[in-house]
Amino acid sequence: MLVLEKNQISAEIEDLAGYYGGNRTALLPLLQFIQKKYNHISDFAQQEIARVLDIHPVEVYAVISFYSFLHSEPKGRNIVRLCRTIVCDMAGKEKVEKAVERELGIKFGETTHDGRITLEFTNCLGMCDQGPAMIVNERVYTKLDPEKACKILSEVK
Ligand code: FES
Repeated sequence: MLVLEKNQISAEIEDLAGYYGGNRTALLPLLQFIQKKYNHISDFAQQEIARVLDIHPVEVYAVISFYSFLHSEPKGRNIVRLCRTIVCDMAGKEKVEKAVERELGIKFGETTHDGRITLEFTNCLGMCDQGPAMIVNERVYTKLDPEKACKILSEVK
């Protein structure tokens, strides 16, 4: 990371923390801001947030780990999460998983080289009677089979 970018991140964190009163209540808004702007929350940003809010870096990391929409590593422009909970599992999740991995040339937990898609697993999406289910960004898709899942992903920009 360039020094210039580090300086910019530090300044942004200090500004925003000041706006929220410079205490713990600023933590989540700060994380959301950094996530949105930089597509992840780097180690450096985590350290800076901890320093500015005067909290331990482990606290910052714990919040990032808790929320699925916050990431400490860069992710793709689109996040695809396939339900791995038992009902979807029994409804054919594994066939969908293998087909999607083959189609994109990556495994779950990885991001395509062009940064288009990150594949992840998720727990129950509440669509158990219509499994296998997956969520692409905020949109839920149900009753998947390998062909349907691959077609959906081919249309994701
Ligand atoms: S088990 Fe997959 S949506 Fe509930």
